Amino acid sequence: MRRAPRFLAAVIALAMLAGCKPLDDTMVLIFGRSMRDQRSFDPYENPLPPPPNSVAFASGNLAADPNTVNVGQPEGVDVVPFTQMDMVPIGTGNAVVAGLVNPVDPTDEVALARGEQLFLRNCAVCHGQNGMGANAYIVAKHPTLAAYNLAGPVVTGYTDQYIYGMIRVGRGLMPPYGWRIGHFDRWKIVNYVRSLQQQAGNGGLED
Ligand code: HEC
Repeated sequence: MRRAPRFLAAVIALAMLAGCKPLDDTMVLIFGRSMRDQRSFDPYENPLPPPPNSVAFASGNLAADPNTVNVGQPEGVDVVPFTQMDMVPIGTGNAVVAGLVNPVDPTDEVALARGEQLFLRNCAVCHGQNGMGANAYIVAKHPTLAAYNLAGPVVTGYTDQYIYGMIRVGRGLMPPYGWRIGHFDRWKIVNYVRSLQQQAGNGGLED
């Protein structure tokens, strides 16, 4: 009768002394499964798919697959489709890309903060925290894969629409992020990239 609590106390004491592993191993013997072997989410994985017929709300709803553009707006904003083929000439893209309109006010502080958050989450790994590339996390792993400088004069010379397009459809070695980052969020990243360029001494807000 009294054995079970004492046994449990011993197990807990053991766990406190040596971390969770012995406790976990004991639980495997009792329950046949381990806490270390469980379903966990992958980074960026959508935790739960939205129920059928629910109304999409901002970019919390990711598109189903990498080939689907996440429009993700409650109003169902009409976003013109385009592909990498439309991203020429470099820097502006064709008329389809050039015709896009940046709906986010570049001086909106809340939008810039959101842009920063998304930039650090999605872009900094390759392009570096301040967009320079040189201090990107990926450099240590792939020293030959020079990350492009987003804060420099080259990208400063690109149009907002082209940078938006880079995020949405990618180019060359850069994968597309359109299925992961919603329409408005992409523009917020564009505005944030502009602010990085300004900090680096390149261009003004109107550029
Ligand atoms: C997996 C690494 C990686 C990530 C993450 C990444 N990029 Fe890139 N990016 C690249 C590479 C590589 C290139 C060069 C593409 C090429 O080969 O033409 C590039 C190019 C660019 C360019 C064009 C630069 C130029 O000089 O022509 C822009 C703009 C850009 N990225 C913006 C972004 C933004 C904004 C994000 C975040 C949403 C992002 N990138 C995330 C790897 C990445």
